[in-house]
Parts: sequence; structure tokens; C-alpha cells
Amino acid sequence: MKHQDIIFTNSVGEELERILAEFGDKVYVICDDNTKTCVLPLIASASPRVASARVISTPPGDENKNIRSLSMIWEGLQNGGADRHSVIINIGGGVITDMGGFAAATFKRGVRFINLPTTLLSAVDAAVGGKTGINFNGFKNEVGVFKEADAVVISTRFFDTLPLDEVKSGYAEMIKHGLLEGNSALDRLLDYKLNELDVTRLLSLLEESVNVKRRVVEQDPFEKGIRKALNLGHTVGHALESLALERKNPIPHGYAVAWGCVVELVLSHMILEFPSAILHRVAAFVRDNYGAPAIECRDYPKLLEYMRHDKKNSGGRINFTLLSAPGKIEIDRYPADEEILTAMDIFRDLMGI
Ligand code: GLY
Repeated sequence: MKHQDIIFTNSVGEELERILAEFGDKVYVICDDNTKTCVLPLIASASPRVASARVISTPPGDENKNIRSLSMIWEGLQNGGADRHSVIINIGGGVITDMGGFAAATFKRGVRFINLPTTLLSAVDAAVGGKTGINFNGFKNEVGVFKEADAVVISTRFFDTLPLDEVKSGYAEMIKHGLLEGNSALDRLLDYKLNELDVTRLLSLLEESVNVKRRVVEQDPFEKGIRKALNLGHTVGHALESLALERKNPIPHGYAVAWGCVVELVLSHMILEFPSAILHRVAAFVRDNYGAPAIECRDYPKLLEYMRHDKKNSGGRINFTLLSAPGKIEIDRYPADEEILTAMDIFRDLMGI
């Protein structure tokens, strides 16, 4: 798999002009109804090629990351005369980069595509690394392929208008990358004041964070080994997210990941002697910025059940990525159920629940 071209810039239109001049041929934009109104005009004003592109827009939200929207996109490409030499620009959050990437990877067996993430979460995670797909039959990301974008253009220009909750959601994945990278990267992230939102500083932290993901994906694009490290915080995080969804009180993905990271650091401390002082520092940052999830002891069986359904598991055991210290990664760890529940108890204490 070729390595992705990732460009950090605040002159997005000009950058796209440069890339599109190189790619040539017809341009198609895939976006959702929100990014069509709020973001596309900003880019089109600085890029004639984007301004004259055919635009295919889908309804926003994870509930629309489905076969119906995908079919609309394929239809838009077909009716607009797209061929193998065309180029697609996905403008949006993770739903659009995942679904647009899948549409591009499959239409006529593959069309070039560029991801232009408009949320911090998609910039730091979904837009980079080649996981594409849609939800199917009640399961998230059930159908998809690995296919890296030909280029990813990342800018913080679109983040100033994002609600703080969304910025925090993306920042949780950055904390995860900091934990995987090592002490100094983690320190820089924990020192940042999320409520003050210094965008210039954020861009440099974001660049550092995306590079952590880039390096992991380069080593293991198809998640056979070390890429599983990127699931830190997600085994518990996905369970918290699923429980909240079942109770019709959804929580942002990044909040679930932030809480999941703390539980998994507690497990790391119990099993691999992850330093207690760093665990407490991360827990305090998470408690202060993300609050605490509404969970009680009686939710534990349900949470374990959700963890057991995770794609990464094998032989009915629950797969975790743990750390013996920041940057010291241990994939494929299988703690006992009792250890997971003890970690949940300690987590609730740390969060003051
Ligand atoms: N979101 C984790 C990964 O891309 O592997």
C-alpha cells in the first residue's frame, strides 16, 4: 500500500488547486448537507476546480452512513459521467471520509480520492489510515475496505466554528496518540487548555498526533499487529458508547474513548505496572474536561457483554491494548473479567462517581 500524502495547511483552496492540477481530469465533491453550505463555499472561492466540480451531498449523521447514502453517491458519480480518471474530494467528518472513501474505492473498481476532514475527530483519526466503509444491519462499519486516500488535506480553519464538545471529542483521540507515543508527547497534550482553544497551538499538536497514527499505519496498514494499538481506550469506550446508545442517550465518540482510556490505563497499572502518577494525571484531565459517564455497578454485565462483541476479540476473550508506560505498548492482552470489573470500580472512584 502506498503511503498517504498528508498536507497541513490553512490555504485549503490553493492546496487543492495544486493537487488537482497534478491529478487532472474531472472532479467530484462528496459532502453532507451541512458541509455543503458551511465549508464548500469557503474552499470553492479559492479553487476554480472545486467551484466547477459536480457536488454529491448526503444527509448528515452516523445514522445516514448506510447503503442508501452510498447508493446515492454511486448514482451521482454514474450520472455525472465519472470514470477511472476522475478524482473525488470528500469534504466532511468521519461519516463522509469513511463513506466517500468506500464509494471511491469501489466505483469502477477504484477512483482517486482526497480527504478534507472538517472536524478534529476526522482529521486525527478517520481521514487518515485507509479504513473506509458504512454501517450495515445495525452494526457499525460492518462493510468496507482498506483504501488510503491519495491525499489528506488538514486545516484547523473549519474548527473555530465547531462546538467545544466536538473539539474535545477529537482531542481524546489525540490523548490516545500521546499515550502511544511517549511521555513528552503526552505532557504537551495534558498541558494544553482545551477551554481556551489556541488554534495555532492546536494545529501543531494535531500535526504531531496525525504523525503518530501515520507511523503506526505505515508499519501495519491492515491491522494484523501493531495497528491494534490504535484501539487503546476503544474496547471499553465502544461498550460505553453502545450502552448509552441503547439507553437512547448517546455520548460523543471521543468522550467514550477518553473514559475508556482511563479504564484501560487502570488495567495497565494493575497488570503491567503503568505508573500510577501518570494514570492519576490523565484521569484528572479526563474528569476535568469530559466529566464522568452515568454508569453504576449494575451496568457491568451489560458492559462486559458489549466488550465481548468487539471485532478484535478471539475465542470469546476480550482483547485489549495495554501500556506498561507511555510509548510502551502491549497488544493482544486478555485480562480476566474480574480484573476488568475491578478496573471499572477504580475508574468510577477516580471520576468521583
Ligand atoms: N481508528 C483506528 C484505526 O484507524 O486503526
